[in-house]
Amino acid sequence: TDEPLVLGIETSCDETGVGIVRGHTLLANAIASSVDEHARFGGVVPEVASRAHLEAMTPTVERALEQAGLKFGDIDAVAVTAGPGLAGALLVGVAAAKAYALGLGVPLYGVNHLAAHVAVDELEHGPLPRPCIALLVSGGHSSLLLVPDVAREVISLGSTVDDAAGEAFDKVARVLGLPFPGGPHIDRAAREGSGTAVAFPRGKYDDGTLDFSFSGLKTAVARWVEAKRAAGETIHVPDVAASFQEAVVDVLTRKALDACRRYDVHDLLIGGGVAANSRLRALAQERCDAAGVRLRVPRPGLCTDNGAMVAALGADLLAAGVSPSAHDLPADSSMP
Ligand code: KG4
Ligand code: ZN
Repeated sequence: TDEPLVLGIETSCDETGVGIVRGHTLLANAIASSVDEHARFGGVVPEVASRAHLEAMTPTVERALEQAGLKFGDIDAVAVTAGPGLAGALLVGVAAAKAYALGLGVPLYGVNHLAAHVAVDELEHGPLPRPCIALLVSGGHSSLLLVPDVAREVISLGSTVDDAAGEAFDKVARVLGLPFPGGPHIDRAAREGSGTAVAFPRGKYDDGTLDFSFSGLKTAVARWVEAKRAAGETIHVPDVAASFQEAVVDVLTRKALDACRRYDVHDLLIGGGVAANSRLRALAQERCDAAGVRLRVPRPGLCTDNGAMVAALGADLLAAGVSPSAHDLPADSSMP
């Protein structure tokens, strides 16, 4: 086909991602993660992430080109996450993208990380319904978005007022003695437990907003565990994991479907690392079926941070005729 080849670069957190797409066809998705280097700190250390991006950038680009069976000169446009994210980490990707775009003499597109999490689904399920509602849940963000057109208009309906959903999973995992990142471990442990064993609080459940709050829940779990330990009682980790997880996914799915109802939208997309959660997927499907809403969830490898999502949005911007970014494109760590 004659659709343009877009190279996408993602460095907003701890994954150095480079993806290549042709239109909505995924050709390569190479990732280098520094997650193991952060594990002993129990969270992502910005300086460690920046340095790891610097070291991984060129080899990851080379790996992506190799996966796609392409040469550098084949690339028609370069897209890069310009924000939001860790400032130093973003700078590495933006600097690399500028160099590649200038060197190749092709357009440069600075993109929003959250919009890229939405656009990636097109690589798996084809063009996005317009409009759709997107629930993005990861270690760094928890947002509800109204998406009339991912290339031109993405509207924030609500977001977390404290911890991100993934952050709550990671912190509760730590309390339960499970390794970082804790989400997958809680997911696994919860399958052996009961979601109704402990009634944990559901923050902002009935407050009429589309915002989230998870820090009260995290503290409630920590207090509950401390109290049991102080009383010399044994803790059934699967029950605590399942009850915590139920509280999170109950609120997430309730608010996502609230958003669909309020804006009369019949397509819901869930993305971000927490979208890999098996209970979130199951409850979302159940509630979407009941509400007549179609659910789209990309496969886990496309839900977590990656370069293909940036390339996918870049391809959309190109197709929509949006003007490229200037070559002095800044990294914007707090991009809305
Ligand atoms: O999107 P992502 O790879 O990176 C960003 O944070 O942007 O998301 C990582 C987050 C971590 O907090 C991790 O614990 C969580 O996603 N996560 C999960 C699951 N898999 C990953 N949380 C719950 N259940 C899972 N199965
Ligand atoms: Zn992300």
